[in-house]
Amino acid sequence: MCGIIGYCGDKAARPILLDGLKRLEYRGYDSAGLAVADQGKLAVVRAVGKVSDLEKKGIARPLPGHFGIAHTRWATHGRPSEENAHPHCDCRMEIAIVHNGIIENYLDLKEELLAKGHAFRSETDSEVIAHLIEESYDGDLEKAMLRAVQRLEGTFGIAAIHAGSDRQVVIVRRGSPIIIGIGNNEFFAASDAGALLPYTQKVISLNDDEMAVLHPAGYHIKNLNNEFLQKEIEIRETRDDLADKKGYEHFMLKEIFEQPEAIENAFRGRLIENEGVSKLGGLEPVLERLKNVKKLVIVSCGTSYYAGLCGRYIFESLSELHVEVDVASEFRYRKLKMDANTAVLALSQSGETADTIAAIREAKRKGALILGVVNVVGSAIAQITDAGVYNHAGPEYGVASTKIYTSQLVVLTLMALLIGRYQGLSFTEGSALIQAIKKLPRQVKKILTDIEHIKKIAQEYAQYKDFLFIGRQLNYPTAMEGALKLKEISYIHAEGYPAGEMKHGPISLIDENFPTVAVVSQDSTFDKMLSNIQEIKARNGRVLAVASEGSSRIADACDDVIWVPETLPLLQPVLNIVPLQLFAYFIARSKGCDIDKPRNLAKAVTVE
Ligand code: G6P
Repeated sequence: MCGIIGYCGDKAARPILLDGLKRLEYRGYDSAGLAVADQGKLAVVRAVGKVSDLEKKGIARPLPGHFGIAHTRWATHGRPSEENAHPHCDCRMEIAIVHNGIIENYLDLKEELLAKGHAFRSETDSEVIAHLIEESYDGDLEKAMLRAVQRLEGTFGIAAIHAGSDRQVVIVRRGSPIIIGIGNNEFFAASDAGALLPYTQKVISLNDDEMAVLHPAGYHIKNLNNEFLQKEIEIRETRDDLADKKGYEHFMLKEIFEQPEAIENAFRGRLIENEGVSKLGGLEPVLERLKNVKKLVIVSCGTSYYAGLCGRYIFESLSELHVEVDVASEFRYRKLKMDANTAVLALSQSGETADTIAAIREAKRKGALILGVVNVVGSAIAQITDAGVYNHAGPEYGVASTKIYTSQLVVLTLMALLIGRYQGLSFTEGSALIQAIKKLPRQVKKILTDIEHIKKIAQEYAQYKDFLFIGRQLNYPTAMEGALKLKEISYIHAEGYPAGEMKHGPISLIDENFPTVAVVSQDSTFDKMLSNIQEIKARNGRVLAVASEGSSRIADACDDVIWVPETLPLLQPVLNIVPLQLFAYFIARSKGCDIDKPRNLAKAVTVE
């Protein structure tokens, strides 16, 4: 969500902070700011908009100094404005803080601090942190931070500096990730290791209720009981993809084109062909328990939720499991019985989504086995699950998820194959699935060669203000995800529906100005889909079909068709979503939208 970077060392802090902010900007981008300290004085620059707007402002006002903190914001409390942008300062303008997360008791704290004479400058929850530190400050920022966080309820990743504490950055974590980056006589703080790519691969992740004090001469880590901790240094892989869109106009397009590779990475080394089964090293520690699992509850949000909906059909088809899928933010409101034979599977590209983390905590409390499918190695969800599988899809910077979605579908299929082979799935069925999985990268490549046709169709449909997306069975989540892609990046109203539900309501919307995108496969749902298409045509609705290659009945019934290669019905969603991603992309492009950073959205949503 919001991004944090901090620096202390011998170099000028400002360019490092700005560079880090650019790398974090995909996480949240309605305003940004930085604070640098020099000769006992604090200089703060903040701007509404992108990091480039902050940069322009900063140039007008050069900031010397060798330590500082910076933040890119996604508004929760208070609209995006210069006053609400971080860093926030104390009354004397000596202490600056940046904060990710939400301070739930901020109104009580603010009232208390106002009564003590503190003057507030913003509408944010975060500003109370600066004033709380000020209250406790007696020349030692570390001690003051320790006292201040004892008063906070909610979630936080915080970095703070004091103008008078030479080149010292203090960080603390509860719920919102923050890491230490270790350089040569310089240290960094960041909410995400990606921000530090050009500077260091050596990082230490803080756990909840841990804090660290950084200074060019060294660092120390403590828990909130003021006890020193020793922590391992991790080496993070360097792949500076952010520096390079590799000739593509947008990260989203680049990531759509990376799907053949991402899909291959999801299954590489994980197929045992002569046994017709998959091998997932991350699940081995819990394999015995997994064999006996009876119920699976998939929890996730956004695009990952639609992958979960596909997962339901996949697990039900390949295994004996009883499967439920829940939007993670709704999970805690269910009265679901769970025991040692229940597994809860969290799907998350970022591994940071607060709603998904909350659902995991709830499921843990009820004693379920907790599994994860996560793309970001070492992320919060990877750490709190009992076992899991990484996507290995590489970083995804486009806020609208594309390659992680198809990668999730492949990983879910591998998990279902693994469990299914213990629960009655035959060698022949397993082998057929494996052969089909291996063909997917080539089939996605084939769809991508059709890009000019998809672009032309998208341009024709870009004039419409509303869309209906329909599908049945596995194409139902595909329709939902196709509609989500369109609304996320083009701001066009789009509804995804199970095709059979259309007659129970949405059909009243259909006329010549309300087109439908129908996702149709050559499977048991084909005839019923065709009937639904006829019902739309009878009401003058324009129909674009995404359909398996070669059906003349579809070509005759629809106004436009994008053909996709055919695979097993269980895997068809991996192929069917690709033209819908491109369709959304080209419509958004023709409307001049900010495709990689759509308004109001963020890549990792770390608030509930
Ligand atoms: C945000 C992103 C979506 C993503 C969702 C879940 O809303 O904008 O693209 O699907 O979070 O994210 P996760 O990282 O848990 O998959």
